[in-house]
Amino acid sequence: MSSNKNKVVWITGASSGIGEALAHAFANEGAILVLSARRKEELLRVRNALKIKDADVFILPLDLSDTSKAAELTQQVISQFGRIDILINNGGISQRSLTKETPLEIDRKLMEVNYFGTIALTKSVLPFMLKQRHGHIIAMSSIAGKFGFFFRSAYSASKHALHGFFESLRMEIQHDNVNVLIVCPGKVQTNISVNAITSDGGKHNKMDESQKNGVSAEFCAKQILKGIKNNKEELFIGGKELRALWVKRIFPKLFSKLIRKQKPE
Ligand SMILES: NC(=O)c1ccc[n+]([C@@H]2O[C@H](COP(=O)([O-])OP(=O)(O)OC[C@H]3O[C@@H](n4cnc5c(N)ncnc54)[C@H](OP(=O)(O)O)[C@@H]3O)[C@@H](O)[C@H]2O)c1
Repeated sequence: MSSNKNKVVWITGASSGIGEALAHAFANEGAILVLSARRKEELLRVRNALKIKDADVFILPLDLSDTSKAAELTQQVISQFGRIDILINNGGISQRSLTKETPLEIDRKLMEVNYFGTIALTKSVLPFMLKQRHGHIIAMSSIAGKFGFFFRSAYSASKHALHGFFESLRMEIQHDNVNVLIVCPGKVQTNISVNAITSDGGKHNKMDESQKNGVSAEFCAKQILKGIKNNKEELFIGGKELRALWVKRIFPKLFSKLIRKQKPE
């Protein structure tokens, strides 16, 4: 029997990309799903394509930038299924804008969605996991959570912030049977660059070359399920771009020189 059979899994950002692939991967293992994102019609599209009973999927639209709703939304999941076994904080937006051209509101928007939205949901779910004495919380960071990159000052900052929060949380709950996994994908073929926010608050609307050549969302989802099963603390998923992490760790000066020569897209 799959270890995810009948587990209640709440996935944010489930309307596309990695979140959608995660919904399929968990559904195929018999999990009970809560699917969240802003676009209800896209969540319904995802649900209709899942191999799962209607009663085992709860569509719960939310906007991560509205943290005031986190407690109420969590209560709705608890009322529906009685528990939350796995929370996957996957929803997020990227950025394509130079720091010097980016107004502070855009920095705040990225922090609101990627950081505060994620920690608000985590803080509202945590008491239930602690009470039930089990749970798994996943934070979707990025390799941009490990080093900065062109056009990503606010995005990279929001992902770095997740590491500080979730590493601290992991320590605090180490004896409570609630685990924390931080996922750092490199390039995954999704619409992340198309949906990335620009300095005027609009969408980048472009599929970056490197994004096109990334690993598939399905591969990424498979690796995340494996990481959860093996109770990994940190997971790196991608292709040759992941080598940058090792270069940074071992040869930080060389890394600094090489990363500046990368194509700034
Ligand atoms: N693709 C990559 O190469 C890559 C690399 C590293 C990290 N990541 C991370 O992976 C996660 C998923 O991204 P993706 O690649 O699958 O991109 P994506 O296809 O653009 O998906 C982003 C998801 O987040 C949701 N979302 C965005 N803003 C939201 C908000 N304010 N409230 C609620 N949901 C919101 C979107 O749904 P709605 O628009 O319906 O709200 C969508 O479901 C993100 O956290 C991203 O930073 C991706």
